[in-house]
Amino acid sequence: MILTLKKPTKKIAPVIKWSGSKRQVAPYLSQFIPTSKKYIEPFIGGGAMLPFRGTKNGLAGDIIPELIGLWQIIRDEPEKTAMEYEQRWNKLQKEGHEVYYAVRDSFNKERNIFDFLFLTRTCVNGLIRFNSRGDFNNSFHLTRPGIHPNTLKKIINTWSYYLQGVELKTIDYRETLAVASKGDFVFLDPPYGGTKGRYTKETLSIDDFFKELERLNQVGAKWMLTFDGKAGKRQYEYPIPTNIYKHKLLIKTGNSPFTKTMKTTIDAVYESVYLNFQPPLELLTESNEIRQQKATLF
Ligand SMILES: C[S@@+](CC[C@H](N)C(=O)[O-])C[C@H]1O[C@@H](n2cnc3c(N)ncnc32)[C@H](O)[C@@H]1O
Repeated sequence: MILTLKKPTKKIAPVIKWSGSKRQVAPYLSQFIPTSKKYIEPFIGGGAMLPFRGTKNGLAGDIIPELIGLWQIIRDEPEKTAMEYEQRWNKLQKEGHEVYYAVRDSFNKERNIFDFLFLTRTCVNGLIRFNSRGDFNNSFHLTRPGIHPNTLKKIINTWSYYLQGVELKTIDYRETLAVASKGDFVFLDPPYGGTKGRYTKETLSIDDFFKELERLNQVGAKWMLTFDGKAGKRQYEYPIPTNIYKHKLLIKTGNSPFTKTMKTTIDAVYESVYLNFQPPLELLTESNEIRQQKATLF
């Protein structure tokens, strides 16, 4: 079934900008999240779905230690995190871009998480990028001063609140999934196709991944998987065995300019979403009014 995102939905300002983030579709997808004992997210990245999880009890993992470190300080030390950013940002405004490169060198040696946060908010387009040696290698965004500390402080405090009750771990997704049991809900947004290897050298074995989904079915955990999609005639889909899931949605998320044989066309972009459970029928109509979702407040 193809569903169209008809209305702009409430979006939450990201605290960690992550390319491939589900920020645009998170308020919409959140309508499909059932109540659960525990919310589990094994590929957390920028965590766009987390605030919508609907139960306080959460477990989130990712393979990148610096990313999980950043999530942990935001959850546990929001005041200190905001202050550390402010100190570096003030120095940057006074002394210029060399501050950025000094922080970057220092981060690549010491892996200080506050340095990491500063880099993510002052680098070109906020793109978190590591080279093959694992060093952060994006450059300073010359034409922008970086997010103002007062603005970031508010965002950090909001996210610290959203993160309460979420255990955060640097682990492979299979370890995260090992704790899932009956009554839990798992949101899966794995790296795939175009994003494979963007942050790490690791690639994901699709066969192993499918086995994990089957195992979740067996233990009785519900899951939602976002997986590729299509733009115009280009398909990005890996065939997912039809016996693994119960329901597939194609969600129209917008249009993307695509240059083809010297002329630019505008292609509709769809996100594929798979569920291993039947969602409420009222969510499955073209006329479904997109509710102005608010993040769940605990
Ligand atoms: C598409 S991103 C998730 C984006 C996230 N949903 C968001 O809204 O920002 C996929 C994430 O999976 C992580 N990842 C890649 N391989 C992994 C593995 N084997 N185990 C756990 N996480 C992994 C990547 O580091 C990346 O953060």
